[in-house]
Amino acid sequence: MVKVNIVFGTVYGSAQFVAETVYEKLIEQGYDAKLWQPEELVDYTPAANQQLIVISSTTGQGDLPDGLVPWFEMVRSTGLYLPDLHFSVIGLGDSSYETYCGAGEQLQSLFEEIGAQAVKELFRIDACETMEPELEALNWLDEWTKSVIA
Ligand SMILES: Cc1cc2nc3c(=O)[nH]c(=O)nc-3n(C[C@H](O)[C@H](O)[C@H](O)COP(=O)(O)O)c2cc1C
Repeated sequence: MVKVNIVFGTVYGSAQFVAETVYEKLIEQGYDAKLWQPEELVDYTPAANQQLIVISSTTGQGDLPDGLVPWFEMVRSTGLYLPDLHFSVIGLGDSSYETYCGAGEQLQSLFEEIGAQAVKELFRIDACETMEPELEALNWLDEWTKSVIA
């Protein structure tokens, strides 16, 4: 089974809960998944031939949660070029903000810039629409699984 790295950025815990839910489901399905805690991210540089799922809320005005910023800057500044990295981004946000899912957009752009392949378009989960973002993420994961196997 493919190696799947899961990275999350959260302020109030929702994105972390979504990441834990996705991680548990992947383990149940037999994937070799790793859920990276923010403090471990100094040791994680994305590599080729892996799957990466980044799950992040947006804070401020379209900003990344603080815990994700050093890793984001590291990926951006290291000069990585990873055409064989497969990535997907789940953005948690609130559509009442002008900068709806701004952090998710930044992450999607970052991985496109380093040449990685998007398994799926940015998937947005709107706090105005659901109180259970993990259920949206599990539905998304069903589709992700089909794309990865196909
Ligand atoms: C101070 C603050 C600023 C926010 N800024 C944005 C924003 O710019 N864009 C957006 O889409 N959502 C924004 N949100 C909404 C959060 O991203 C959303 O509620 C998300 O589900 C929180 O997830 P978390 O618990 O993982 O932090 C903001 C929320 C707060 C409290």
